[in-house]
Amino acid sequence: MRDLYTLEDLRDWKTVTAGEEPPLKLGVFGDPVAHSRSPQMLNAALEACGIPARYCRLHIRPEEFAEAVRLLPQAGFIGANVTVPHKLAAMNAADTVDEHARKIGAVNTLVVEGGRLLGFNTDGPGLMRAIRAEFGVDLRDLRIMVLGAGGGAGRAIAAQCALEGCQRLVLVNRTFEKARQVAGELASYFKDPRVYGPSHRLEAIPWEEAELAAQLAQTDLVINATSCGMKRTDPSVLPESLLQANLLVFDTIYTAARTPLVEAAQAVGARAANGLSMLLYQGVLAFEIWFNRTAPVEVMRKALVGAS
Ligand code: ATR
Repeated sequence: MRDLYTLEDLRDWKTVTAGEEPPLKLGVFGDPVAHSRSPQMLNAALEACGIPARYCRLHIRPEEFAEAVRLLPQAGFIGANVTVPHKLAAMNAADTVDEHARKIGAVNTLVVEGGRLLGFNTDGPGLMRAIRAEFGVDLRDLRIMVLGAGGGAGRAIAAQCALEGCQRLVLVNRTFEKARQVAGELASYFKDPRVYGPSHRLEAIPWEEAELAAQLAQTDLVINATSCGMKRTDPSVLPESLLQANLLVFDTIYTAARTPLVEAAQAVGARAANGLSMLLYQGVLAFEIWFNRTAPVEVMRKALVGAS
């Protein structure tokens, strides 16, 4: 199996991958995709369950995406994962989109059924499982702040929090207008005044220290969905001076066990986790959709950690 495949390969998949044993029947479509850890995690799961199929990386550019997904049935695929920047295109390309994925507004998991493509989203539910696993709490019981709520990942996370009916949701984005727009889209989920008192259940705020401090005083869980922290040299997306010991801090970044934000949060005594468990559970849920059986979570976790 090669590290990367392309649209060109997919056009003639059976010939290009002839002799591959087990055959390549699953994959992740992205641009870039070379650093995706999904193959390690899912191949470990397939092997542990004795399923005769393998999972590969496909480097597919935005202009190639529509053709690429249409080739999946004839290439003999069971399904695929879709990552940046294709999650919206995948929703449009699928013949049927699951209700939850439609509400989230993005598809990250495709299933080939006959000649048709079914679309699902396991990122949001994966986040929910990750928060439960890391902190022993449920989104619906929490007052949540999403940093980067206007980005692709942040929008899906904010939508999941809204769908879960979380207590409060504060949306923050460097470009404020995007946070305001997402708040508008989610307003209908926050009609009931579940929290008594003067603060609104849904707010979009500008990225300003005084605003952040005021809102963090009424926050249980902070989720970083910005790309700030991917590089080791990035500063923590929130400075230590804004963090407190009673916060739960979840960083969707998983390039390091202790990302800059996780380090800053732990330095003030807060509980913090990187995004590895979100990656794990979105993969677990995708496996369960493809094979209609329980995924070997611990095997997958080990493979992910080993791949770092
Ligand atoms: P996407 O395609 O998902 O929008 P992106 O450009 O990497 O991907 O941006 C993801 C998020 O990280 C966005 O919310 C972005 O803020 P803007 O909408 O203002 O661009 C946010 N982001 C990136 N770098 C950041 C930084 N240094 N500080 C704060 N937010 C940042």
